[in-house]
Amino acid sequence: NYYAIILAGGIGSRFWPISRTSHPKQFIDIIGSGKTLIQDTYQRLSKTCPKENIFILTNESYTKLVKEQLPDITDQQILTEPVMRNTAPCIAYGCFKIESLNPDAVIVVAPSDQQILDEDAFVSSLEKSLQTAGEHHCLVTLGIKPSRPDTGYGYIQYNGSVINNDFHKVKTFTEKPTLDIAKSFIQSGDFLWNAGIFVWSARAILKAFETYMPDLHDIFADARLVYNTEKEVAHINQAYQHCINTSIDYGVMEKADNVYVLPSDFGWSDLGTWASIYELSEKDGTGNSVTPNEKVIMYNSSDCVVNMPDNKLVILQGLHNYIVVEANNTLLICPRNEEQSVKQIVADIKSRF
Ligand code: GDD
Ligand code: MG
Repeated sequence: NYYAIILAGGIGSRFWPISRTSHPKQFIDIIGSGKTLIQDTYQRLSKTCPKENIFILTNESYTKLVKEQLPDITDQQILTEPVMRNTAPCIAYGCFKIESLNPDAVIVVAPSDQQILDEDAFVSSLEKSLQTAGEHHCLVTLGIKPSRPDTGYGYIQYNGSVINNDFHKVKTFTEKPTLDIAKSFIQSGDFLWNAGIFVWSARAILKAFETYMPDLHDIFADARLVYNTEKEVAHINQAYQHCINTSIDYGVMEKADNVYVLPSDFGWSDLGTWASIYELSEKDGTGNSVTPNEKVIMYNSSDCVVNMPDNKLVILQGLHNYIVVEANNTLLICPRNEEQSVKQIVADIKSRF
């Protein structure tokens, strides 16, 4: 009864200019592991879910990349969207579709852009979560001990009540707080980051959509007759025009009252922004993270993350706490603590060119 949905339709705009709309980060070997992020994700999930039960939710323009990188995946396992509408619609589509195949399904929803170092610990957290979600029909999310007041994450506060030993009832879920609020969460000590990995029964998540996002629920419930027929693609493409553009975090997780968190520790990193690359990488004596490149020469500079093509001589003098990245004929220079604005910048640039 175990199924998986891999979310692979984002464009990774905070990782610009390495991640581009035509070839987003999930299809890139960003950490140099020899596999792309989506290949790693698929391989990790296939340790728990049968391969034929793993679905990829992505934009129609990435179908070719998915097929190239995951040759075991059949056409029926790739669910495509005509437009980006953030994660709530694609999760609704995936969960309704899986429910049409197996009403007793228990589903893990996972992003395609994360690194997990301890796979055994991950598999054990995931198995416990699938079991708990199947028994209790609650919404389970995996929680990570936070290390900085990052405004790009969801923050989870839990209270004393516990089920199945380890699953704590969530008191509040706050998606992408302001810096001040994130700082106060970190100071208070009783918050976890939302890893963005959700586990629930088809029954529980459909019920949550019905309660908190009834319009979205009705769009995909109305599509029940066409799932697994040749009319599915055309119908879904049409239906997407009516879908709200929002994430599951705002749409369901902040509102639902049956959310449980499993505090987890499996060497998790979200490869969302340059800060995550900075944290993961080896640094020189002054805190600079330079992707191996002898043509980057730095004088009196510290705590920078530098990623340049290797045919270019680059000299940095007196630069501290900056991101300096060039790819695809585009150069980005941005203070490290303003990296969240890269998302807006990319949107602005796109509207100009
Ligand atoms: N199919 C599809 N369609 N996938 C999408 C879309 C879409 O429109 N938008 C985003 N995705 C995919 C991305 O490719 C990524 O794998 C995943 O969904 C999550 O989207 P992000 O855009 O990376 O979300 P986030 O990082 O801002 O926030 C989420 O993840 C954090 C942890 O990494 C939230 O769940 C946070 O609460 C969480 O802390
Ligand atoms: Mg992300």
